[in-house]
Amino acid sequence: MNSFDIQFHNGQFHLFSSKVSYICELHKDAWLLHRYWDPRLTAYHGANCPEPVKRTFAAAADPEEPAFSLEMEPQEFSCPHQGDYRESSLALRRQDGWPAGRFRYQGYEITEGLYAPEDLPHIRPLDGKGAKTLSIRLRDEASGAMLTLRYSVLEDSAAIVRSAEITNEGTGPIWVERAFSALLDMPYDGEELVTFHGTHQKEFQMDRRLIGHGTISFGSTRGASGPQYPPFAALCAPEAAEHSGEVRALQLIYSGNHCVRVERDQYDHLRLTTGIHPEGFSWKLEPGERFQTPEAVLVYSGQGFNGMSQVFHQLYTERLFPRQWAGRTRPILLNSWEMCYFDVSEEKLLPVIREAAALGFELVVLDDGWFGHRNNSKSSLGDWTVNREKFPNGLTPLLDCARENGIQLGIWFESEMISPDSDLMRAHPDWAARFPDDAPLLGRNQLVLDLTRREVQDYVLDTLSGFLRTYPVSYVKWDMNRHMTDPGSASLPPDRTGEFFHRYMLGLYRILHELTARFPEILFENCSSGGGRFDPGMSFYMPQTWCSDNTDALDRQSIQYGASYMFPPSAISAHVSAVPNHQTGRMIPFETRAALASSANMGYELNILDLSPEEREQVREHLALYKEERDLILGGAFYRLRSPFDGNLCAWMLVDRKREKAILYAFAASYDVSCLSAVLKIPYLDQKKLYVERNTGRRFSGEELRYAGLAVRFPQGDFPAIKIVLQAETMS
Ligand code: DGJ
Repeated sequence: MNSFDIQFHNGQFHLFSSKVSYICELHKDAWLLHRYWDPRLTAYHGANCPEPVKRTFAAAADPEEPAFSLEMEPQEFSCPHQGDYRESSLALRRQDGWPAGRFRYQGYEITEGLYAPEDLPHIRPLDGKGAKTLSIRLRDEASGAMLTLRYSVLEDSAAIVRSAEITNEGTGPIWVERAFSALLDMPYDGEELVTFHGTHQKEFQMDRRLIGHGTISFGSTRGASGPQYPPFAALCAPEAAEHSGEVRALQLIYSGNHCVRVERDQYDHLRLTTGIHPEGFSWKLEPGERFQTPEAVLVYSGQGFNGMSQVFHQLYTERLFPRQWAGRTRPILLNSWEMCYFDVSEEKLLPVIREAAALGFELVVLDDGWFGHRNNSKSSLGDWTVNREKFPNGLTPLLDCARENGIQLGIWFESEMISPDSDLMRAHPDWAARFPDDAPLLGRNQLVLDLTRREVQDYVLDTLSGFLRTYPVSYVKWDMNRHMTDPGSASLPPDRTGEFFHRYMLGLYRILHELTARFPEILFENCSSGGGRFDPGMSFYMPQTWCSDNTDALDRQSIQYGASYMFPPSAISAHVSAVPNHQTGRMIPFETRAALASSANMGYELNILDLSPEEREQVREHLALYKEERDLILGGAFYRLRSPFDGNLCAWMLVDRKREKAILYAFAASYDVSCLSAVLKIPYLDQKKLYVERNTGRRFSGEELRYAGLAVRFPQGDFPAIKIVLQAETMS
């Protein structure tokens, strides 16, 4: 049997990889029903299918089979008014105003590889590793709508990728009013729901809750995926924890309005569905036109949340992030923001570049404040020309200085925005998104550019391309600092106003696609006031994300812990900053700040010219050590060991792929009794190997570390951290 495949037999579609099976089935060659999404099965005979039982209130889908009702059956998609009263995943309306959606099976296709929708971020085909895609077609006769459900199975992965496409094969227009990417039905078995919530400076906070009857719904209507409820949900067995238990998770590859709905109905059926948020959404399809939903990634893990994260980390590293950055060294950067804020200049930056190079930094990033007449957040977004008062000779002296000192230069843009006080606004007042009769609302003193319009996209592309050719920087920080109101465009006719948000995303994705293709050597870093749009959609174009504007090493523990559920350390940027911390005022020891940042894609943002000789030495040593450990940190496996959401302690580890060297970090929020006797079970080493602890020379077997655990003792003082390095002993 192949290690992964899609087979169609006796009306059953069976997708499997070495780790997982996904099965759906045709009923009477008309209805598509869900059967199984769990560990790999070699054969399935319908053991979990209940006999149809006629229920009061249930509508019969088939007049010849009164007990067969869609309300009782597990589905692959669901339309309203068809007898399935649970959360629907697709809603269509015809030109005459009537709803449509009585879909019946038409046929299927199994193709090699992935579908890879060209105008949306997606899981990438990968040379040398296989994938297969199943496309199931269903048709609604009354409207002529064709629904294609796509499922991809990937070699060597427990992930399944799903999306849907609606094509208008009728004679009149159809409005798509809801088009979710995936719907999953299963019997409720005590599952709990894990989600994340957050805000600016407090991203990726975890919630775990019981699922009662009714619907739990969350998402974003902000025009961005948002830190409030990032596009992720996991259903887990009540006993599931980091190291063990069943978890089923999904994530949407999308950066705009999205939602997740979880419904437990009156018969204890559990439904999980996700897609573009339906609020304010509609999409007109003329005959022959099609609408493609974003992809959803479904991950099954029988090894708890760490098992789930390993699947996301591997999948995203291999098949989501830009390929040119796979396995490539990421520079240690020094960012100007917390050093200078808007007060940047040639005079200030030249000595910083020289000193940065001397300390061992590899890239200096010129953040906000370098363009137009920008001295605060009130002006100049859109005017991407160098401020000659601050940089009288342009940016060439900075680039020259960086080159002479053997390091790189990077720059900040917030290209999706327009300041009312900008030359761009004076030239094109209609380029800000707005409704015709309301003055658009400001956020951080700025408006949103109407990226639904091709000419606005082209302006952004041309201006940035021109700039990047004049000033060949090595890195771009792509920021986005407000959420949307007034989602209106002068270019959209009245029957297409509901298309604004998604068209904006398509416009943004086009810009990012073009720009990253034109400048493949530039490292693009995603940012939205920190991790405000940290999602797989943006990560398709930019391999790393500034995870939070909160650089406090205590608050960062939960933020980075949360982000690691989906993203590997290479995707999570973390900076060492000054004390007292600019966001919280905390005085956290250097060792703890360094440990926090060194667990991810590390950089700094503090004034390195202010360091005392001792501090300077500390930084120099830290950078040198990080360079030694960088391949393991950014290329190894990351496992969570102790959750900051459960108490005072937080711990995680990084281990190389051969399980020969591991770095373990443990943090305490405060020094208390829990710091005297913490024992960490470490089930991710080679049980047959013997490990030497670098600092003490003590030896432990991998087996012992797994089952007995490692006792750790924190140093006294505020915000303690411990670093433990375990090296496998060479076997004689
Ligand atoms: C928000 C970002 O998260 C910060 O790092 C900084 O770039 C500011 N914007 C600049 O305005």
